[in-house]
Amino acid sequence: MGKRKLVTLATTGIIAGVLLLVAACAGPAGPAGPVGPPGPAGTGGGAGVTQNTVNETVKAYFTAYDGNLPLWKIQPGTAPRMVELTLYFNNMWFGAQAGNWDLARFEAYRSEETVKGIYVTRPARTAAVKAWADPNLAALIKAIEAKDKAAFEQAYDTAIAGCNGCHAGSSGGPLKSMAAFKIVRPTTPLFSNIDYKGP
Ligand code: HEC
Repeated sequence: MGKRKLVTLATTGIIAGVLLLVAACAGPAGPAGPVGPPGPAGTGGGAGVTQNTVNETVKAYFTAYDGNLPLWKIQPGTAPRMVELTLYFNNMWFGAQAGNWDLARFEAYRSEETVKGIYVTRPARTAAVKAWADPNLAALIKAIEAKDKAAFEQAYDTAIAGCNGCHAGSSGGPLKSMAAFKIVRPTTPLFSNIDYKGP
């Protein structure tokens, strides 16, 4: 083959290539090809599991207490909430004694919040704790919002009588009766770095 003929062939090839390219770019899209056969089912029988089922299953794990699951097992039960209640009742008392009703109001709110934790992690205790918390915290809040010291002290004494009543009838950990924890009016504020009088 001569040199000229080779050049002509190469040129023809380039032109044909460019024409094909232009046609590919500018031409209308062809019809869609036929749908392929379905792929093989995944291992582990996941073929019929919907996203909704997965979501519901995960939600159930996070909603109902299950002591076999480490994440649930490390959540506070009753005793740590009781320590919080003791703290809130101490602060609440000294706030009220100092006429700092805002401080007392906050501690009553915190008491309401902390018992909610027991309802989630210790459902067997819910009925008893709620029977104490609902009326007693409501009475305290009413007296606090009225800035009524006498009513507050009465509600406070009734509430701590309820603490002790429940303790007498409850078991906890190694104890058959929680009467060992007798709650009284506090005589010393827990925190020396809070000025209970407020601003
Ligand atoms: C409805 C029942 C009930 C009421 C009301 C109640 N407690 Fe308790 N308390 C318990 C039980 C049950 C335990 C033991 C919990 C455990 O074993 O985890 C406990 C334990 C305690 C402890 C020991 C916690 C520790 O870890 O050392 C304190 C302190 C305490 N309660 C304070 C209070 C105070 C303060 C109140 C009221 C303001 C109160 N409790 C009201 C049932 C109650």
